[in-house]
Amino acid sequence: MTLEPGIHHDAERRVWALAMAQSAYALGVTPEGFVQHLYWGPPLADLADLPDPSMPPARSGQEPALSLLPEEYPAWGGLRLGETTLRAVFADSTRELDLRFAEATPRRVGDQPSLTIVLRDAAYPLSVTLEYRLDTAHDCLTRAVHITNAGTEPVRLERAFSGAWHLPRMLAPRHLLTLAGQWGGEMRLQQQPIVPGTTMLEARHGLTGHQSYPWMAIESAVGEVYFVTLAWSGNWALRATTEIMGTTTIVAGIHDLDFAWPLAPGATFTAPDAIAGFAADGREGARHRLHAHIGAHIVPQPQELRPVLSNSWEATLFAVDEPSQMQLADQAAGIGVELFVMDDGWFLRRTWDDAGLGDWIPDPVKFPRGLGPLIQHVHDRGMLFGLWVEPEMVNPDSDLYRAHPDWVYHFPRRPRSASRNQLVLNLARDDVRDHIVAALDDLLTDNAIDFLKWDMNRPFSEVGWPDQPERIGEIAVRHVEHVYAIIDTLRQRHPQLRIETCASGGGRMDLGMLRRTDEAWVSDNTRPDARLAIQAGISHILPARVQGAWVTDTPALLRRQEFPLDFRFHVAMLGVLGIGGNLLAWSDDELATARHWIAVYRDLRPVIQAGEQTWLASGEDGVSAVQYRALDNSQLALFVFRLGDRFQEALPPFRLRDLAPAQRYHIRQEGQPDQTFTGSWLMGHGLYVPLPDIHFASALVFQSLNRA
Ligand code: GLA
Repeated sequence: MTLEPGIHHDAERRVWALAMAQSAYALGVTPEGFVQHLYWGPPLADLADLPDPSMPPARSGQEPALSLLPEEYPAWGGLRLGETTLRAVFADSTRELDLRFAEATPRRVGDQPSLTIVLRDAAYPLSVTLEYRLDTAHDCLTRAVHITNAGTEPVRLERAFSGAWHLPRMLAPRHLLTLAGQWGGEMRLQQQPIVPGTTMLEARHGLTGHQSYPWMAIESAVGEVYFVTLAWSGNWALRATTEIMGTTTIVAGIHDLDFAWPLAPGATFTAPDAIAGFAADGREGARHRLHAHIGAHIVPQPQELRPVLSNSWEATLFAVDEPSQMQLADQAAGIGVELFVMDDGWFLRRTWDDAGLGDWIPDPVKFPRGLGPLIQHVHDRGMLFGLWVEPEMVNPDSDLYRAHPDWVYHFPRRPRSASRNQLVLNLARDDVRDHIVAALDDLLTDNAIDFLKWDMNRPFSEVGWPDQPERIGEIAVRHVEHVYAIIDTLRQRHPQLRIETCASGGGRMDLGMLRRTDEAWVSDNTRPDARLAIQAGISHILPARVQGAWVTDTPALLRRQEFPLDFRFHVAMLGVLGIGGNLLAWSDDELATARHWIAVYRDLRPVIQAGEQTWLASGEDGVSAVQYRALDNSQLALFVFRLGDRFQEALPPFRLRDLAPAQRYHIRQEGQPDQTFTGSWLMGHGLYVPLPDIHFASALVFQSLNRA
């Protein structure tokens, strides 16, 4: 028997175990009052197994005891040589901390057991509260940190990370998994052997970023996986430092570059949530846990599945107007689309990307009657209506900028660097935040809008605030906090509103954003073979239910070659299916194919969006295979993709995972006779999936509900 899920405590020895279904985490307090990490891994059976918290012996004069102690929140100060999570400067210029244990309290946050531990500085009135929240069912441990200045003089925080995680000593080979990319090629999995030293992932330009995602996982030689992800949508840093003896420490938080937080007397700074977990069952186990955790505890509407959408961007670009959008909407409704989204181009003087951002009112030339008739037209056809906005930005050619040129980040004697012809609004300012709330609130009040695509199409530069130069170190954090506050306010005032997060594709799909948005636009690259790699990467974190994926036209600008329409559909059906192609140009045959796959998707949506996703193959040898399983085994779907078949070699059988061994699965693939197998056979031997003999072949196999 292992420890029951929840918080276990041995008061005498001052140790705590945070027990989850298939993992445990433990910490304790040393006689000196340091909070020591004791354990992270498979479940514990008995608290008595944990060692007494204690200082390790010094190894040498150069490696004093404190430098060898794995602390839960190692602050900069004293003889600490390793990774640190907090740096503060006191009014008398003392810039070191000495945090000691004060008290610990178990609580519940919703249905999650939690533990808070308060640390106090030994000499200054500064306290740090470490918060641990357990998703016991999914082995995800969320940490947040609250730093309070209880004194009468200001303190300046120079780093305030969300936590430190100490992994047990691991023998080689162990691997670090990260995601890297760029615009149009986001989230590609990188794997490297871990060697002593530090790997740092970061974002420094105001948004989560395309180059890197705030997640890392470490895979041991036997395939166990530890992962950490940070729920923050601005500048962030994740560092993994491995010592020569094989221990790795990860720290994560808001980037300390350009960060200097004035903590006024009585004020508290809260560092964002970081979510970590352990999976003895490896990468797929880690994926399942994060997906389930996100589905249950992060997305704002856990019970809701996402509708099939169509989006105007690639069909009509900026040339949206009432007739073109009504025609597109008719076509979309005819094939079973449920949410019609009008993308960029609908607002004042927006004929290209060089004007209009900031003026969130319908362009009277394109929409002489306002948006009302179009929205009514869409609603009359049984679809929801969605609209694109980019609220954090302004074009210099806009009424907003002409009225408030001081509302963008800038330095008085530097040019304001435009990118995509736009500047970033200084959202750290309360008046700018309030203006955006009012403008969007008016838009949503005047129009029956069900959905916003919230975009963010350039990085920060010249991050200055000439009126408040002393607040410069707060800007990047305030910006994100105010984006969150605006979205939260709008959702509260318009409870029917759903939101898609987008930043030139997948530039901002961290869990801070997904806590308040319903889906993410994963990449502007919809070329299906590229999308397979991108979706495989981001699927280490995000479940299918939030991954926006469109079927677009080929050949086209970014996709110079033809891809079979079935293949394009199957790739988009891995996530939240959408149509991005120009439906006005689709042939009757293509529309019939679309109608067919949308109907199939709507039938399979519960298992795709709310089931468990497993990547049986992720592009190795040009083959991808993705399994979706309902947790009660009532539904099963398998998508198989092959990029080419140079040698005319049939694919091996795909061994399915986690099925009920004795259950009989009635398997259906179009164009093939139905087959019935037990779960044991499908897991042990696997399923042959015949593919058409073409380039970019794909198939969808699923468990027929009309069982014979
Ligand atoms: C970004 C988005 C696209 C589209 C355009 C509109 O690039 O990623 O999907 O909305 O902006 O300008």
